[in-house]
Amino acid sequence: MERIALVTGATSGIGKVTARALAQQGHRVVLLARDLRKAEDTAAEIRRAAGHDRVETLACDLGSQAQIRRAAEEFKSRHDRLHVLVNNAGAIFMKQSLSPNGIEQTFAVDHLAYFLLTQLLLEVLKSSAPARVVNVASAVSMLGHIDFDDLELKRRYKGARAYANAKLANILFSNELARRLGGTGVTSNALHPGGVASRFGHNNAGIFTLAVKLLRPFLISEEKGARTSIYLATSPEVEGVTGKYFVNRKPRRPPREALDESVARRLWEESARMTGIQLALTEVNAGPDDTRREAST
Ligand SMILES: NC(=O)c1ccc[n+]([C@@H]2O[C@H](COP(=O)([O-])OP(=O)(O)OC[C@H]3O[C@@H](n4cnc5c(N)ncnc54)[C@H](OP(=O)(O)O)[C@@H]3O)[C@@H](O)[C@H]2O)c1
Repeated sequence: MERIALVTGATSGIGKVTARALAQQGHRVVLLARDLRKAEDTAAEIRRAAGHDRVETLACDLGSQAQIRRAAEEFKSRHDRLHVLVNNAGAIFMKQSLSPNGIEQTFAVDHLAYFLLTQLLLEVLKSSAPARVVNVASAVSMLGHIDFDDLELKRRYKGARAYANAKLANILFSNELARRLGGTGVTSNALHPGGVASRFGHNNAGIFTLAVKLLRPFLISEEKGARTSIYLATSPEVEGVTGKYFVNRKPRRPPREALDESVARRLWEESARMTGIQLALTEVNAGPDDTRREAST
């Protein structure tokens, strides 16, 4: 049976290598990207590398919740199966800027987009089980903190802090998703890809871009950076493994705050509120006396 994978941020860096590897392993791959021309060029390149035509594009700027909703609908109109979702697209914004929804961009693109896209595709993931959600986080999550009084750093914005917080949010989301998906056959894991010589950070100007360029010789290749994503998306070794954080294809203890279930639960609720998800998935592996139910989005 054909396996279908959706990779966000597949026009560059780790996402592109991941999408290519999934296609080479025989998946039908859907490349979600904001720049459709770039996406079409990438799709053509991946079709050539994989030796088959089952590579599609899906237009979506992940800063826009309306576009995420449209993309999820478009995906579901094309396919009734999804076996692998790789939430990979990310960016750092050294200057504070807002998404079309009026939400700080780092929080919107790096965290809320993972949350919303996954929610909208949950039913199709569950009906395709065994299925996997792979969330690309970062080791900088160790510098992050979730301050529920100021999730978007409205008081005092710092780009590096916003990014570290969002990457911590990725792990909290991944773990909470794993808990809520218990028993469904859909797994959720997060990872740090390593310091990768990709285009990451290039959307910023000045000293930050210069620093990123100076760091390049010390960074690993995009191919190496994508290894853990590909491993979590496909390896039989991690079949059924869920709620873990991986570095170098090995489970690692994430930062302490990432393991705080009360923070994860509250972040889930806040994220549902900020994305207009009315009835977020509640815990499905609850005991028989538990009245909590799984609800649609
Ligand atoms: N590079 C590292 O050292 C490093 C370390 C730890 C974690 N990570 C994480 O790894 C992931 C991939 O990063 P990378 O290093 O491969 O960076 P990259 O080369 O800059 O690729 C980022 C991808 O995300 C896409 N993207 C960014 N904003 C988007 C938006 N609003 N809507 C749709 N797509 C968007 C980009 O699209 P465009 O092509 O249109 O720009 C690109 O395809 C990110 O989540 C990042 O946080 C990277």
